[in-house]
Amino acid sequence: MLKAFIFDMDGVLADSEDLSMRIGIEYFASIGIAAGREDFRPFLGMGEEGFFAGPAGKLGAEGYSYSEASAFFRSRYLEIVGDSRIALPGADIVRKAHRCGILTALASSAPRWKAMANIEAVGLTADDFDSIATGEDIKRNKPEKDIYELSLIRLGVDASEAVVFEDAAAGIESGKRASCRVIALTTTLDAASAYDAGADGVIPDLSAISGFSSREEAVRFAEEAMKRMPGGKVRYGAVMIEPLERRMPRSFTLRKAIEAAAAARENAYVPFSRYRVGAAVVSAATGRIYPGCNVENSSFGATICAERNAITTAVAEEGAIGIDMLVVFSEDDPPAPPCAACLQVIAEFSRPETEIVLASPGTGPRSYRLSQLLPMPFIFPTIRG
Ligand code: THU
Repeated sequence: MLKAFIFDMDGVLADSEDLSMRIGIEYFASIGIAAGREDFRPFLGMGEEGFFAGPAGKLGAEGYSYSEASAFFRSRYLEIVGDSRIALPGADIVRKAHRCGILTALASSAPRWKAMANIEAVGLTADDFDSIATGEDIKRNKPEKDIYELSLIRLGVDASEAVVFEDAAAGIESGKRASCRVIALTTTLDAASAYDAGADGVIPDLSAISGFSSREEAVRFAEEAMKRMPGGKVRYGAVMIEPLERRMPRSFTLRKAIEAAAAARENAYVPFSRYRVGAAVVSAATGRIYPGCNVENSSFGATICAERNAITTAVAEEGAIGIDMLVVFSEDDPPAPPCAACLQVIAEFSRPETEIVLASPGTGPRSYRLSQLLPMPFIFPTIRG
């Protein structure tokens, strides 16, 4: 039984690489050297010393001193990190998990000052963590297992009760050496490399599993993320789908899907109810968006809802689909949810965390997870995962 979530910082909760490179460029400018991001990139992840010494050697920076660079970096970083947008999607999972009763830990190789500054900059506080371990607390850094073992001891849990969230190969290896299960984010590596490094599951970022509202659901979402089969397939309800690796940002997909659902609604065939509904389904395998509208019938019971129309349109194009997101566009305030029959059809092709967005012309979109709207779908016993 999962009891604890342990998070790496950079590439998982925060993306501070660009900020670091900006400050590096400022430092070199202060000693009269024009540096660019491309001078730092090969040296990212090599520790602070490599981060400065690499470009300094390459650019022949004579006035370079590591201790000065390090002091400059720290004071400038602390000055501007609060105003920099370094939070990665889903970073609020830490607070949510902690409040639900999951034990939470940070295991970052960064120095303590940087870890603490990043925690605040991503909208969290030290109180959201039951343990904070940094590079200063251990002798041997990742890929050695020390930082994860220390975190397990501090949390008082067994390795089998913890899941580690990592983005880099050395971090994945570190978590595995400590006998934890590891969910990798594809913020840094692609999925194949993450699996090669030993990851038990791969997600695009933490927002893929942060939509839970209870401890049980949090555990279920994390377990689901580790159910990926060899070959990259993932269970979506009754079907196995290989999700697209590089997805568009959620905000972009959401906007496009709402537009598609609103446009489909214009075509609703509703001579009896005059109640127009549009829907749009986002396919997990392709990222494509399929529209649907309600189509009524003189024999009222033969009416087809917008959601099922969108799903059958998608299946006609792709075969069995996995649904990452489904938008329902109605004219209600609050916007209408899918009917129970549609929820059951949605569940055939969805994961518990599939996002169901309810929208209407007058109100902002409201986002739910399928598990909230239909906690216990029926999936035929012989094909249940
Ligand atoms: N309708 C939908 O399109 N989706 C739902 O989930 C609920 C209802 C349509 C069917 C019918 O044309 C009209 O709304 C009134 O029931």
